[in-house]
Amino acid sequence: MCGIVGFAGKTKCIPIIYSGLEALEYRGYDSAGIAYIYNDKINIIKEKGKLINLKKKLDFDINSTIAIGHTRWATHGNANITNAHPHQVGKFTVVHNGIIENYIELKNKLSKKGYQFKSETDTEVISALLDYNYKLEKDILKAIDKTKKELIGSFALGILCSDDIKDIYALRYSSPLILASFTNGNFLASDIPAILNYTNKYIILENLEIAKINKETITIYNKDLKEVKHSYHTYNGEKSNVQKNSYEHFMLKEINEEDKVYKNTINSYFDGTLKSLNENFGFLKKYKKIDIVACGSAYHTGVIAKSLLENYANIKVYTEVASEYRYKKCFYDKDTLVILVSQSGETADTLAALRKAKNDKIKTLAIVNAIDSSIAREADYVLYTKAGPEIAVATTKAYLAQLTVFSLITLYLAYINNQLSSKEIDNIIKDIIKLPRLIKKEINNYQIYYNIADKIYENKQVFFIGRGLDYANSLEGALKLKEISYINSVAYQAGELKHGTISLIENKTPVIAIATDEVIIDKTISNIKEVKARNAYVIYVSSINPKDIFYDDFIKIEKVHPILQSILTIIPLQLLAYKVAKNNKCDIDKPRNLAKSVTVE
Ligand code: AGP
Repeated sequence: MCGIVGFAGKTKCIPIIYSGLEALEYRGYDSAGIAYIYNDKINIIKEKGKLINLKKKLDFDINSTIAIGHTRWATHGNANITNAHPHQVGKFTVVHNGIIENYIELKNKLSKKGYQFKSETDTEVISALLDYNYKLEKDILKAIDKTKKELIGSFALGILCSDDIKDIYALRYSSPLILASFTNGNFLASDIPAILNYTNKYIILENLEIAKINKETITIYNKDLKEVKHSYHTYNGEKSNVQKNSYEHFMLKEINEEDKVYKNTINSYFDGTLKSLNENFGFLKKYKKIDIVACGSAYHTGVIAKSLLENYANIKVYTEVASEYRYKKCFYDKDTLVILVSQSGETADTLAALRKAKNDKIKTLAIVNAIDSSIAREADYVLYTKAGPEIAVATTKAYLAQLTVFSLITLYLAYINNQLSSKEIDNIIKDIIKLPRLIKKEINNYQIYYNIADKIYENKQVFFIGRGLDYANSLEGALKLKEISYINSVAYQAGELKHGTISLIENKTPVIAIATDEVIIDKTISNIKEVKARNAYVIYVSSINPKDIFYDDFIKIEKVHPILQSILTIIPLQLLAYKVAKNNKCDIDKPRNLAKSVTVE
């Protein structure tokens, strides 16, 4: 959600900024712009829509070596050129990621001082406030410092001042910003992919710190304006992870990486022995109650984990979406653990939920993919998923890695709580070992799911149904389909349909019925027969061969222990959603209105 790249160096900067913005496209945006220094002046070029529109307006040969660039995901005001960043007021030009909550009050105050505003954005108010404070302080650093104290909300800022055309200033609070350098200059950026063409070393700017970047140096000032030094972090992933290679879409590439991602995640915590689980998860022993908090797909892994932990480890779990949890009364006690799940590690609501728990002195565990992200750094404990960078907005491999971590946690807690026989533990371990092969097999069966997608892609609505764990799987299947294909797909508990929703079933309405839970399968099948009797088009997804034919299509998935089953169940649903979206010619990797990293509330 919004991407920032800034560069000050000894080489032409427009190509560098543009390729950095391209690398941040995955975050989601609907307009873009660049401010660059040329002939000692700040020049601004902006365009709505995709980066390619901006590209047509840029001179890649221009002899400019300092610039800030931005991709905007509209929050305040439509996606148009006026609202696109950078925003210039007086001497200050700003790009911003985040939301300023008190911008109306600030705008009123500044209007009274004579400032006029062209856009509807909160960002333009920051530029005006900087300009106003600079007139008072007569010093750029002090003006930025004063401004940061007046802003309420979240902000990562790249700032140019026309009185100092050699430097870029950066400031952040609650939204991420990294700094980096290579032989030809220095960077600021929202995320690592923006710098990977030049370096894999980066510094994390901490909350309320200000950085000054020029072609020679990066200087960081702490919240009291004292100069501080931070050590460099190294990104060890492959650069090819953030490239599509021969795949048509990142989503497809990322699904095809799922067996490897599963293996990497398992190998980080489990060497085949229960001892290794104890070493990695031993800290969990003392918690008797768990809250799992997350957004979107990450929340769905929490719904699955609740079912697993309660049924197999006998631990009471409360799962909630972060945007609700952060404002809710929470019934903590001293042995509650709050688990935050996030791919990006920057999701604003999840981060706020983490801070709420910490505020109440409750211990927190982050299950996070992005290394060194805010959620990873602020939690008491971190378990990293090993999915590598995920570029497609629709999460696939990171979701699967989150499920993998939860499976291992369930196995460990079930074991120490004496909930599993040693024979059952041995069987689970055998399944853990054979899973990469089964994941690959399911991916290789893609043609089966594609054929079904070809039959249903023109429908306006699709239902997903299941019970228990399979209802949780349905939630993710439905989200995957709707977010990339724009088809209204909704998940229901199979037994709940007849209390209202079944009235929506018409001739040939697709119903994707998931039934992997042997204990309750007969009940689910009864519900499936109820929709079939109303002429629904039933796609039956199960690890168990049906006794009679009550479906139109059957997706057979491999059967493993329920602790691991959802890892396999989701793969056909991801590939089905992919093909439906492809048939509908949707922008699969960057669906409309969505952002990869949701850094606003
Ligand atoms: C899923 O495909 C979505 N893109 C979305 O629901 C996502 O899972 C959610 O925004 C949470 O993101 P996070 O994992 O980065 O916190």
